[in-house]
Amino acid sequence: MKDLSRSYTNGSEQPSTKQEFLNVPSPATQPSSDKLSQRELFEIADRVLPGSGLGSYSLADDIRLIYTHGEGSRMWDVDGNEYIDYVGGAGALILGHSHPSVVKAAQTQFERGAHMFGSLNDVAIQLAERLVEDIPCAERIAYATTGSEATAYAMRLARAFTGRNKILKFEGAYHGNHDYAIVSTFPKEPGSYPQGTADSYGQPDATVSTMLVCPYNDLNKLREIVAEHHSDVAAIFAEPVQRIIPAQPGFLQEIRQICDEYDILFILDEVVTGFRLGYGGAQQWFDVKPDLSTHGKVVGGGGPLSCVAGRADVISLSDPKLKGQQGYTYFNGTLHGNPVAAAATMAMLDELGKPGVYERMNGFADDLCKETQKLLDQHNIPAIAEHTGSLWQILFMDKTPCNQADVLASDQVAMRKLDTLLMKQGQYILPGVRRFVSTVHTARDLEETLRGLDIACREFNRF
Ligand SMILES: Cc1ncc(COP(=O)(O)O)c(C=O)c1O
Repeated sequence: MKDLSRSYTNGSEQPSTKQEFLNVPSPATQPSSDKLSQRELFEIADRVLPGSGLGSYSLADDIRLIYTHGEGSRMWDVDGNEYIDYVGGAGALILGHSHPSVVKAAQTQFERGAHMFGSLNDVAIQLAERLVEDIPCAERIAYATTGSEATAYAMRLARAFTGRNKILKFEGAYHGNHDYAIVSTFPKEPGSYPQGTADSYGQPDATVSTMLVCPYNDLNKLREIVAEHHSDVAAIFAEPVQRIIPAQPGFLQEIRQICDEYDILFILDEVVTGFRLGYGGAQQWFDVKPDLSTHGKVVGGGGPLSCVAGRADVISLSDPKLKGQQGYTYFNGTLHGNPVAAAATMAMLDELGKPGVYERMNGFADDLCKETQKLLDQHNIPAIAEHTGSLWQILFMDKTPCNQADVLASDQVAMRKLDTLLMKQGQYILPGVRRFVSTVHTARDLEETLRGLDIACREFNRF
């Protein structure tokens, strides 16, 4: 077993807990919903929420739990049980739960004023300046509220700028919840390209027919589709790491090249990877410059804020002074530029800008995957532990997936079975879904995670 005594926390002289920093009682003593039992809360949820859910995840009865609070890398359920969190608010909580400086910034701004709709606020301007400095492709940014909203606006801007209707996306890519985004995102089998399939009832056929779909990492197919449809294509939209599938070397550069050849806009969806793979996001990691990139999660600081970044000539089509003129692209939202979320984001970026933060976080993911792989091999479990930066997952396949067909061909039943057993060992993950490491995962987390994995592997082989 390797030396687990190494600390993954940033070792600064800052107060070690939110409580020390804010001088407030620890979560265990704070009032919470613990007056109601888990059973009582489920009874209410079953009555008032569809499928007792907050979205598309529906967990089996033995692993569905109700959580009350989180701190650092840990979360607690209503009964007081503790979990190591590898969901991290779907990637938004890169500094873990309730990081002292993020909490302080949001709290301070809430007291100064929670929102000033219709006019600028000082914090949103300062954050915008910082995002333009720090996001490699950004000459301007335009605010939105969620990642989905950012991708929808980016598509609208591309259509307005080029005067073309279609957007090309990759099979299996997730760009949010709107009608244009959920096309061929959850296919049950590889599709008949470039035709996309609707992922939800209620999506208009007309919306689906404006999307073209191509297998990820397949440059031949991409060139073929673009050669045939380029006069209709406004943008190629790509995730730089599509779920757990990394872009193969040269893939994103080739998209850039194709876009330049045909005057198509290249939009990189950095909702997950922005300020996550490294401070410069995937644009820096893969050394590629898109025309636009979409940002949320870390941009938002865990609050309601996102943005489209990129070329000034494209983003400026949303300038309200252009109303009524050719190309004017409508952007509007109650919480756009929300100062509380902007203050939280600034605090988060301050932390992320400190030396060594990404090296430690990505190093943790590397150690975690290497040690996980050793245990999987020892237990003869035919799976691989893979990561790109701090994004990681255990996959029941024998090589890094290249596209959605590889993912579909993997043993997803086995993957969910192991993930479910891991949840029972106190790890908060979503079965079958990519996980996140945060900057505050510790050597103790690593040790406990591996101990839990060892037990889960034994259980896996027993049943
Ligand atoms: C790559 C990507 N784009 C867009 C989105 C949508 O973001 P949101 O859930 O904030 O609407 C997500 C969400 O997970 C995402 O992973």
